[in-house]
Amino acid sequence: MAREFTTVGVVGLGTMGAGIAEVFARQGYAVVGVELSDESLERGRQHLTNSTKRAVDRGKLSEADQQALMERVTLSTDLADLAEADLVVEAIVESLSAKQEVFRALDAIVKPEAVLATNTSSLSVTEISTANASPGRVVGVHFFNPAPVQELVEVVRTVVTAPDVLEDVTALLTSIGKSPVVAGDKAGFIANTLLFGYLNHAVAMYEGRYATREDIDAAMRFGCGYPMGPLALLDLIGLDTAYEILDTMYRQGRDRLHAPAPILKQMVTAGLLGRKTGRGFYTYDGPDSSAVVPDALTPSADDAPQLHHTIETVGVVGTGTMATGIVEVFAKAGYDVVVVGRSDAKVAGVSTSLERSLDKQVQRGRMEEADKQPVLDRMTGTTKQDDLADVDLVVEAIAEDLAGQDDAVREPRRDLQAGGDPRHHHLLAAGHRVRPGHLAAPGRHRHALLQPRPGDEAGRGGQHGGHLRRGRGDDHPRCARS
Ligand SMILES: NC(=O)c1ccc[n+]([C@@H]2O[C@H](COP(=O)([O-])OP(=O)(O)OC[C@H]3O[C@@H](n4cnc5c(N)ncnc54)[C@H](O)[C@@H]3O)[C@@H](O)[C@H]2O)c1
Repeated sequence: MAREFTTVGVVGLGTMGAGIAEVFARQGYAVVGVELSDESLERGRQHLTNSTKRAVDRGKLSEADQQALMERVTLSTDLADLAEADLVVEAIVESLSAKQEVFRALDAIVKPEAVLATNTSSLSVTEISTANASPGRVVGVHFFNPAPVQELVEVVRTVVTAPDVLEDVTALLTSIGKSPVVAGDKAGFIANTLLFGYLNHAVAMYEGRYATREDIDAAMRFGCGYPMGPLALLDLIGLDTAYEILDTMYRQGRDRLHAPAPILKQMVTAGLLGRKTGRGFYTYDGPDSSAVVPDALTPSADDAPQLHHTIETVGVVGTGTMATGIVEVFAKAGYDVVVVGRSDAKVAGVSTSLERSLDKQVQRGRMEEADKQPVLDRMTGTTKQDDLADVDLVVEAIAEDLAGQDDAVREPRRDLQAGGDPRHHHLLAAGHRVRPGHLAAPGRHRHALLQPRPGDEAGRGGQHGGHLRRGRGDDHPRCARS
């Protein structure tokens, strides 16, 4: 039968421990919080009071509930007060010896069936557990900061964790509204292993001058829908913390994805720790500020590419999903669009999909019915590439699988270039990777990943504004130009 948990002990009431105590107390559990000294106990109490007061201020907790919550928490400086606990969560400093000491001491205090958990981020749960006489009852419970808000908890099993312990802890976490996931005992567990490999890769890209910090961050925000770019996120986490996490994972797993990019260490040594020191990958208007201010790397207005041609008509070659989306982006922005397909039926398909997409936007209140027809009227379809002779920009978006078949791609592209009047300065952009050999005049080609985004409707004032923005939505316009 599954264990019943009624009393939860929390050892260490710092950032994480106070949050974990709050999580359980909010759900009606009796909580016993243990700290090192009266002074740190008082700090823990303040953490709890401030956090629950914020919840009251935001209308997420009533004052009466806050008071009841605080009454469910007993604070102590004596581990012996954990005798009644059914579960103890250790959240003290990240030190193996200090954690082992707690797990050793708990042996003589808690009931034999009590479950012991550690909130460690990077130490080995197995090593911590061996300090206890019954390592089978030890698991990792990795809460995320801030614990009352973040839903994810990684439950870490060691090779000796008893299956019923794992099941009971996972069920308990689910019952208090968390979303537990189970992982083996490897530094980084699931989320940090994946996240920090990605963050480290972004740093390496920046270090290798592959792209600017603004473009690296924009790519992940606007291309993948992440709320923050990787470099801005590293500034928030703190470069010193990120370095330590990567270094620990690298030393344990030897996966070169986690070998900290050298510039990370250099920045840490130079005191560029991110927001906390006011400077990291970006510069902030002071320590602990989130407001980015310009610095030497901020692109100046003079760097912004100028458009040398007036763009009025855009040709789109292709009739697939991407081509249809690209047609929509340009037509909604006020450009006349010529779609080239391999058959009338395929061209008609683009027109139908475009109409369907606009209908959906009208239904969702994102577009006025009256604005629909003018957009549809801007699209014309053809099966002849010669009809591209007068367009100012050609976007190639034919199927990726065709791109593998050299002739299928090279020929249409050569045709495009042969058909174009050089005086019109045709601009070629591709919706996917293009090998330079495919193009007779690679200098005229810009590879732009054109992905329609919801709300990408900035448009231009008039029909002949001639300013073409890449879909970024920030204040660094880029123009496709030859
Ligand atoms: N901060 C985070 O974002 C985060 C996220 C997930 C996990 N963690 C992990 O959680 C643990 C705690 O981190 P934190 O950020 O809350 O640290 P913290 O420094 O804010 O708090 C640690 C607290 O433990 C107390 N303490 C130290 N030794 C003790 C002992 N022997 N008995 C009782 N109390 C003791 C300290 O007085 C302090 O109040 C660490 O293992 C850390 O790796 C941290």
